[in-house]
Amino acid sequence: MTLYEAIFRRKSIRKYRDTEIDPKLLEKIEQYGEDAVGIRPEIRTKWKILKGSDKRLAGLFLVKAPYYVVLYSEICEDYRKNAGCLMEQLVLYLHTKGIGSCYQGGARVKHEDEKELEPVMIMAFGYPAEPLERDREAFKRMELNRFVKVHGNFGKVQRKLLEAARVAPSAMNLQPWRFVVTDGKIHMFVKKPGKIGYQMQQDFNLFDAGIALAHMLVTAEEQWFDLEYQKLDSILEKDFPNNMYVGSLLILNESEKI
Ligand SMILES: Cc1cc2nc3c(=O)[nH]c(=O)nc-3n(C[C@H](O)[C@H](O)[C@H](O)COP(=O)(O)O)c2cc1C
Repeated sequence: MTLYEAIFRRKSIRKYRDTEIDPKLLEKIEQYGEDAVGIRPEIRTKWKILKGSDKRLAGLFLVKAPYYVVLYSEICEDYRKNAGCLMEQLVLYLHTKGIGSCYQGGARVKHEDEKELEPVMIMAFGYPAEPLERDREAFKRMELNRFVKVHGNFGKVQRKLLEAARVAPSAMNLQPWRFVVTDGKIHMFVKKPGKIGYQMQQDFNLFDAGIALAHMLVTAEEQWFDLEYQKLDSILEKDFPNNMYVGSLLILNESEKI
């Protein structure tokens, strides 16, 4: 199975078997960032695996699992989008290996010993004690027309990319992303959070944006489209009442594709 195929089959796994994962694979996971396509490769990140039995995590809605992976990052512009984008590629990679996972938005590491970088995302993983996959029809997600506005050519490339973003997981399945399609570009926004829990909601929305971007970048990579992620000044300068600008995907050589 490819990462692209995993996009349309994965689901959050909340029940795990206590089976050990091969140490070589665990090592590969801890080096995963090196193989992933990030949106800001210059941001320093690091992965650490914690064993569930070590009880190093605390927090709300914690799923009991044999392993957790913590993604550490430097805190700078775009670190949340970059973290979401990297973590979701790990989710897809684990899925191709028969391993399930579930983001742990309410978790924190107890007695943190990492000095340089901040723990920004935590995810439970392990061999599943429930079905690893679901059918494409079983995804509970909004239809494309609820979150995409089209102001230009909308062809097969745009549909493929947005269909992959549509099925992306998000905190509480809120699917905060919005897209505007213009000729050769897809502009991405996320909803501005309401006043209650503003900071946490904003953090989640930006992690979610990175997760959806990962699905689009994996789609491009595996379907041979050339994409470039950029933040366009012309959009950055505008103030939108309900949405925050995330960035734009420039579709290169579109006419030659599919
Ligand atoms: C940033 C983020 C945080 C999440 N936090 C939790 C959590 O704390 N506990 C949990 O059980 N699921 C958590 N989830 C999983 C979502 O609830 C799940 O992805 C969403 O409902 C869609 O379902 P699916 O992953 O099965 O497609 C989180 C997901 C994301 C993206």
